[in-house]
Amino acid sequence: MNINPSKVVIIGSGFVGSSIAYATLIQGLCTELVLIDSNQDKAEGEVMDLSHGLPYTSPMEIRAGQYGDCRGANVIVITAGSHQKPGQTRMELAQQNVEILRLILNQVLQVEQKAIFLLVTNPVDVLTTIARTYPELKAHRVIGSGTVLDTARFRYILSKHCQLSPGNIHAYVVGEHGDSEVPLFSSVSVAGTPISLLCRECSGLCGADYRKQVTAEVRKAAYEIINRKGATYYGIGLSCTRILRAILHDERSVLTVSALLDDQYKELEVALSVPSVLGKEGILQRLPLSMDDAENEQFLKSVQTLQESVRQV
Ligand code: 2OP
Repeated sequence: MNINPSKVVIIGSGFVGSSIAYATLIQGLCTELVLIDSNQDKAEGEVMDLSHGLPYTSPMEIRAGQYGDCRGANVIVITAGSHQKPGQTRMELAQQNVEILRLILNQVLQVEQKAIFLLVTNPVDVLTTIARTYPELKAHRVIGSGTVLDTARFRYILSKHCQLSPGNIHAYVVGEHGDSEVPLFSSVSVAGTPISLLCRECSGLCGADYRKQVTAEVRKAAYEIINRKGATYYGIGLSCTRILRAILHDERSVLTVSALLDDQYKELEVALSVPSVLGKEGILQRLPLSMDDAENEQFLKSVQTLQESVRQV
């Protein structure tokens, strides 16, 4: 499959960065993939391992690099930083990961300012907000992975409950990628049918208690995985390659990425996730939210959580 030349740089070759690289290779999303890590051996080892799969994938130039290799990148993915330990919240990582982000941006911006920057390191909304304080970067090209993963978790959980394909469950999680995120039950639909109509037929017990249970399950998903395997990386890896595909293929798809733009959400003054149209230029527009009163209240709490966290870094 011929695709236009495109270069993706992944900064941070740990669990998440290498999972994004692996999924990007399998999906053939770019023609040039560069891995950067403060541990050069780690980056080189990941590149060697990935390269041995090239006979079975689409052609791709994969190499380890330095910050100078960010020059000319279409997308620069930033995954470097500490990840949650069992029981640790994402927000507890803010101080140290913001410092790491600043060190990275001070290096990268010397060679590349036009690329789309995809922030993944947690707390991703705080780091996306901090990245927006760099005037060299265009607002619509500073994107956080946000709640794209949480939206996938929400859709998966509903798909098991409704015994339907996740692809036919239209459901979104908004706000913080974290403990205050908001699954929007009121706008869940299956092939255009509001889930409330579907529930009447399936007596699926989708009442208030079920919604509370699912909200907790979505919010706690990462903790449950981290308690069992020490980190999460396949879900976020696939979520980030979904974002990369929307950008590199100029899809104009709607994904709940995190951003801070001069649009209808500007006065919130923090990056957070709402359904956003993604294409090769970055975020093309953000959709207005449809929420019931309870969801709106949760959304405002999520905004306040983020505002307080940004003030502390
Ligand atoms: C996740 O939600 C840890 O933010 C990461 O899987």
